[in-house]
Amino acid sequence: MTATVAVIPAAGRGTRMRPATRIVPKALVTVVDRPAVQYVVEEAVRGGADEVIMVVDLDAGHLVQQHFLMEGRLPGLEDIKIRVVVQEEPLGLGHAVWEAAEAVRDRSFFCLLADNIVRPGGDVLPALAAASQGNSAVCLRRLTDEFLSKYGVVVPGSDVVDRTLDVIGAVEKPGPEHAPSDLGLIGRYLFTPEIFEVLAKLPPGHGGEIQLTDAIDRLASSGKCRGYVAEEDLLDVGTPRGLVEATWVLGRSQFPDLE
Ligand code: G1P
Repeated sequence: MTATVAVIPAAGRGTRMRPATRIVPKALVTVVDRPAVQYVVEEAVRGGADEVIMVVDLDAGHLVQQHFLMEGRLPGLEDIKIRVVVQEEPLGLGHAVWEAAEAVRDRSFFCLLADNIVRPGGDVLPALAAASQGNSAVCLRRLTDEFLSKYGVVVPGSDVVDRTLDVIGAVEKPGPEHAPSDLGLIGRYLFTPEIFEVLAKLPPGHGGEIQLTDAIDRLASSGKCRGYVAEEDLLDVGTPRGLVEATWVLGRSQFPDLE
């Protein structure tokens, strides 16, 4: 199963990126020559999306909209349908995805977190689609202990064969003592529209927020989730250190002579 629509949750004030994000929304912080979220939109398009729904907060809404939709569309994105949905309250990632329900309707969709940018040549959406076997699918990476409290972690339901597996549960940021495995969710997903039914009924979870990981857990425990284990991590542009790394890695791919 694949998808032609992508949801990109890009809300959040970027508190880990102050003072850069006092005025500029997190999604529009520049990496080399374009805002972070543009890399993610471009990745979705390479993965086969012809429609992109970005979920942003109230402050960022009109700026993100202007960046993508003002006269003279961005090269490579001329034919893409782009829509911006505003998440009025910061109630969590699961809630942000749910805000896109009306625009997505009954279609399967890719979901790409805007904080994470793939490395050049490291696209994962085609492999995620291939792994899904008609179900929802999540992109994973093996984590060391220190990251088990920073990522959602899945419960494997089978061995990993050709980088793919059955997923039978998921826990948001369990920490090393409670982690069911070392396989962490790295912010790339393919969902059937059933996720919206689950999200609509989901109570707040970790940190008092509506967690996307909890919705994945519900799908997974009814045998409707697959996993794809990626080789590399993504570039995290949500922190100053990660932004420097992303700028370096993506800058080197544009300017190979940089030392
Ligand atoms: C979110 C998700 C988490 C996932 C992570 C990937 O957490 O809730 O499950 O592992 O993105 O980056 P956040 O980074 O927003 O705290």
